[in-house]
Amino acid sequence: MSLSFLIPFMPEQASNFAWEMDLFYYFLVLLTIAFSAAIGVAIFVFAIQYRRKSAGEIPGQIEGNMKLEIAWSVIPFLITLVIFAWGAKIYYQMYTDPKESLEIFVTGKQWMWRAQHPDGQREINALHLPVGRRVKLTMTSEDVIHAYFIPGFRSKTDVVPGRYTTSWFEPTKTGTFHLFCAEYCGTQHSGMIGTVTVMEPAEYQAWLNNTTRDATLAEAGAKLFAGLGCINCHTGLVEMRGPQLEGVYGTPQTLDNGSKVTADDTYLRESILNPNAKRVAGYGAVMPTFQGQVTEEQVVQLIAYIKSIANMEAKPPAQPAATPVPVATPMAGKLAAPAPQPATAAQPKKTQ
Ligand code: CUA
Repeated sequence: MSLSFLIPFMPEQASNFAWEMDLFYYFLVLLTIAFSAAIGVAIFVFAIQYRRKSAGEIPGQIEGNMKLEIAWSVIPFLITLVIFAWGAKIYYQMYTDPKESLEIFVTGKQWMWRAQHPDGQREINALHLPVGRRVKLTMTSEDVIHAYFIPGFRSKTDVVPGRYTTSWFEPTKTGTFHLFCAEYCGTQHSGMIGTVTVMEPAEYQAWLNNTTRDATLAEAGAKLFAGLGCINCHTGLVEMRGPQLEGVYGTPQTLDNGSKVTADDTYLRESILNPNAKRVAGYGAVMPTFQGQVTEEQVVQLIAYIKSIANMEAKPPAQPAATPVPVATPMAGKLAAPAPQPATAAQPKKTQ
């Protein structure tokens, strides 16, 4: 439903949330106007009706009116409950992750936006999306707080250093839309802008094909996993110093203090940058921090790799020493390196 004619200066409604967000906004505006008008009129009417009509006039005592007082307490209370319930409904829709979505990683940095598509395409101050498909953004910042704001989608989410925030939407219109940073982040804050281009799915596919990519996030992560030496401890050998990471993503882990934590993006990120904060039971405090050695984008790649092996089973211990690192390539659906599991178990989950 579009009531855009009421406020002609609102941006185009270009996502699944836009119409309801606007309707809610119009409701608040109309409510505000109605109450302001009623109060304004009452002031004038009472000022005239109850003015002092002769010098020395003493007004009569007013004892109050119970019915009136209940009415003006209960009616606004019910109205605020409507605002609360409706606002909460929209909020939970927007911040409950959809099951199937195109997952894109966004990094904010003074003063630019970087985006990485699941197959490894990267872009700066731009975002290309297919129309009619749910898109989930997972975002973090390299420095200070930014906010990813696409007015046409009515989507605005803080991008915070040291944690992942997510937001999702479904573009409903093709075209080009504004992208802004909506959190003051330094001198070039106003220049931290870009464009969101929504295309037909076939066009989007063509754009993906024509955009150079080195490796998928998971492939880049697998390379880092070997290059940074993670593979030396997270092996599956009997004397392994760290847990095997096959099948770990998204599952509950028991920590050395007995509590449980789900191995999600946030936990994995923390364990890379601050390994001893939440250590899995049975392992010593031997892992060094990778704080300062990996960028936020590389952390994302490592997590993508760990996610890509989520459907694999951990190898039984006491394997021969030269175990190749399993490299999952989600697009091909095949393993680049031989893995000891049967093919069915080794099929990487379709992560995006
Ligand atoms: Cu980034 Cu303002």
